[in-house]
Amino acid sequence: MMNTMTIAIDGPAAAGKSTVAKKVAEKLSFIYVDTGAMYRALTWKAIQEKVSLEDEEALFSLLSRTDLNLVQSDKGQLVIVDQNDVSELIRTAEVTNQVSITAKHRKVREEMVRRQQELVKDKGVVMDGRDIGTHVLPDAEVKIFMIASVDERAERRHKENVEKGFPSNLEELKEEIRRRDELDSNRAVSPLIKADDAVEVDTTSMNIEEVVDRILQIVKQKSEEEE
Ligand code: CDP
Ligand code: CDP
Repeated sequence: MMNTMTIAIDGPAAAGKSTVAKKVAEKLSFIYVDTGAMYRALTWKAIQEKVSLEDEEALFSLLSRTDLNLVQSDKGQLVIVDQNDVSELIRTAEVTNQVSITAKHRKVREEMVRRQQELVKDKGVVMDGRDIGTHVLPDAEVKIFMIASVDERAERRHKENVEKGFPSNLEELKEEIRRRDELDSNRAVSPLIKADDAVEVDTTSMNIEEVVDRILQIVKQKSEEEE
């Protein structure tokens, strides 16, 4: 049971989902799937090819022609689009500011969900995103809804940018996070929402290790219940 368990982690931007999901996957020897990276990759390619992000049909058609792979490597997870490593290119402000437009289209989401579900078959997996517990893995054994205050989330991103030597403005980050939360929570198709059976974890005053431990504790409890 533990080997094929699925863990869904959803929540708003910069709540700590990917950092924590990666560590939980490592501890359990599960695969980690970053679904946000898939929406980012499509957004990046659309910008390259000058496809309008408002054009659902054009984006869907672009996605159908796009080979998109998440590859686990020593350097962490690589995002490969048509054989090119775009792991860094999909994290720019240009992509971040527009990715929620790409993610609002029904046809795009349906195809992304189909691809995400294919990655899971018979494997232990930790998947993070916005609609994992509600749509992608509705039968996940463990569902986490990870939140933190906007101020805390902006501070975390700011710190991360400064450490990487990227330009960063705290007020602009707060604005971007608020705007993306708003778009993601209010879109018509599978909005960001806590699944009824998800456990909410407020990480505002928790460090990464504390959040990882909390989730491992929830996983342990769940697997003991099911034995
Ligand atoms: O890491 P960060 O919270 O900044 O974002 P992300 O997880 O990389 O996701 C980027 C964007 O993709 C989100 O703001 C959503 O618009 C979209 N997304 C989504 O709609 N559904 C998912 N399962 C994952 C991401
Ligand atoms: O994936 P998501 O957008 O939810 O967040 P993330 O990229 O994993 O985390 C955003 C930043 O917050 C990273 O720099 C993490 O190291 C940091 N973080 C933290 O300081 N404390 C936590 N409890 C969780 C994340």
